[in-house]
Amino acid sequence: MQVIKSVVAMQRLAGRWRREGARIGFVPTMGCLHAGHLSLVRRARREAGSRGKVVLSIYVNPAQFAPNEDFFRYPRDVKRDLSLCRAEGVDVAFVPGDKEMYSGCGRSLLISGIRRIRSAGSAESRPTGMGFSTYVVEEELSQRMEGASRPGHFRGVTTVVAKLFHIVQPHVAVFGAKDYQQAAIIRRMVRDLNFPVKVVVGPTVREPDGLAMSSRNRNLKGNLRSQAVVVPRSMLKARNMVRKSNVIPAARLKARIRQWVQKEPAARLDYVEFFDPETLVPVSGVKRGTHMALAAFVGQTRLIDNATL
Ligand code: PAJ
Repeated sequence: MQVIKSVVAMQRLAGRWRREGARIGFVPTMGCLHAGHLSLVRRARREAGSRGKVVLSIYVNPAQFAPNEDFFRYPRDVKRDLSLCRAEGVDVAFVPGDKEMYSGCGRSLLISGIRRIRSAGSAESRPTGMGFSTYVVEEELSQRMEGASRPGHFRGVTTVVAKLFHIVQPHVAVFGAKDYQQAAIIRRMVRDLNFPVKVVVGPTVREPDGLAMSSRNRNLKGNLRSQAVVVPRSMLKARNMVRKSNVIPAARLKARIRQWVQKEPAARLDYVEFFDPETLVPVSGVKRGTHMALAAFVGQTRLIDNATL
């Protein structure tokens, strides 16, 4: 396995592979890899074929974190990540630094630039003095849920994924259903901006007790880990209720879920939403096939999950 840190080196290699007719499968990540990420690697391998190449990127993208969020607390373990990638048969781990990704601005500059955007009060205002000033913004699917709770988050995601697509030049990119809204937004970006990339979404991989695997689970210390199970359990309860009745008013189900989640002393519901799985438009009546997504803090750690009911 090759470890590449330079954007130009990655672009050159991807160009060579393409000229040789190899199909490139790509899994973008922020590292601290777990079985969920590795399932996407296997999917990318299948999609790329036996003569194809698989690239996994590891980059904790500062542009998708607000200043009050956990950028500095986000778990990092690149050494372990690289050995997992090797064991999984990844061809290239692309591990760029902030200077590579954001034209010469160091992380502290970038973070303070982001801070400046926030304090200007609008995601539209432009950072200055960062040496980086071009963004990709999806304006419809990003409005609700994660987009509403984390203003500017999806702008950071679409921008970095667009950059990574230009660098890795994949034929197929694999994302996880765990981040359902993110996958929908990437699909929309690829369609709207004509990226020649096939987007594939793999299923959410869970711990035996149902908790969705997440790099952030590492930050759940002590009894917070057992309290976190309330997140998948509340989805199961919602599913059971929906399967027993025809249609349930979304407002009633939301109130019930808030109650369930907040029975755990360290848990606080951020949002829960019921929506059409294709359009992401909220529904007022919840029935079988409606999609549910929620975000909850357990201690300081923010968890998200989703499921079809
Ligand atoms: P990260 O949270 O590291 O996730 C990388 C990919 O793994 C995403 O597509 C995510 O949906 C998927 N994933 C995470 N947990 C999963 C699980 N339990 N089962 C299946 N897939 C799972 O998502 C990001 O990074 C970033 O926003 C990124 C797209 C890399 C842009 O910075």
